Amino acid sequence: MTDDLHTLETETAAAIEAAADPRALEAVRVGLLGRNGRLTALLRDLGKTPPEDRRARGAALNALRDRLAAALEARRVTLDEAALTARLAAERIDVTLPPPPRPQGLIHPISRSMEEMAAIFGAMGFAIAEGPDVETDWHNFSALNIPAHHPARDDQDTFYLTAPAGAPPPVLRTHTSPVQVRAMLARGVPLRVIVPGRTYRADHDATHSPMFHQVEGLVIDRDITLGHLKGCLIDFLRAFFAVPDLPVRFRASYFPFTEPSMEVDIGWDRKSGALGQGQDWLEILGSGMVHPRVLANVGIDPREFQGFAFGMGIERVTMLKHGIPDLRPFYDSDIRWLRHYGFNPLAPALLHEAA
Ligand code: DAH
Repeated sequence: MTDDLHTLETETAAAIEAAADPRALEAVRVGLLGRNGRLTALLRDLGKTPPEDRRARGAALNALRDRLAAALEARRVTLDEAALTARLAAERIDVTLPPPPRPQGLIHPISRSMEEMAAIFGAMGFAIAEGPDVETDWHNFSALNIPAHHPARDDQDTFYLTAPAGAPPPVLRTHTSPVQVRAMLARGVPLRVIVPGRTYRADHDATHSPMFHQVEGLVIDRDITLGHLKGCLIDFLRAFFAVPDLPVRFRASYFPFTEPSMEVDIGWDRKSGALGQGQDWLEILGSGMVHPRVLANVGIDPREFQGFAFGMGIERVTMLKHGIPDLRPFYDSDIRWLRHYGFNPLAPALLHEAA
């Protein structure tokens, strides 16, 4: 082999060894075998070689090209393997490590209150019933002894939908009480249900939202008395607010679907907001003995069955329990508010165990 080929081979072999990545190696290949590569130029000049030397020179050039091409390929394989090994090392996962902290969802205070109510009343033997948000006039009003043009309808001004010809328009239910009617019709008596759900009224200010939540309660059986109503609600309120000696007051009131009817107040200190302390009373819910006419409206004989019912606003008791001052952020979907007032989804509501 002539000196010039020997030099080319040594230099190229050194450059191939020195190429640290596929890109550097490709530059060596182009410098050798590309259109302006050194070996390409020598092959092109073969024609200028004296005829007697041409054959030997050609064979030497071809052999050199084969050796260098093999060296390039060997280096490429080495570099590819090294790259893969480095990547595998960098991406290795230790499955025994604890997971990195991740943003975690929180339970909305309304949902939390509903779960707590389900836990407390569940322990007293209540089932959960549900009904539609869009109600018939009959379920929302008439069956509950609120006839057309009764002033109680104005207290619960709501949103009406388009009526089918001749029929009274469907309403967005103004309370969860229509599910009393649905539950009695669907399940029959005796009956013990609570009904958490959304309700609607044409009201909007700092303490009223056009959509809010209520929970209804209904117990129908033989020989149910006012004493059952009082015991049940006192137990519930003390468990829910986690104040074992919470003062509870029953105050005569009026609802068309109960007779007698009572407003229920709890004792608190208006100034500090402390529940169970101070000299003030705060209205919490409405209740009463189910009106005989409501029972008759769903085909139940009021001489055989009696019962009590109650209804309360979930936002209101939730704000009181957790010291939440404003109603509006409940529906803003602001993650900062939820981080402050939300609940760990892995901490279940088990209030009945403490009660
Ligand atoms: N439905 C009533 C309201 O929305 C609350 C209520 C009062 C429900 C007395 C009852 C009850 O079941 O007995 O204001």
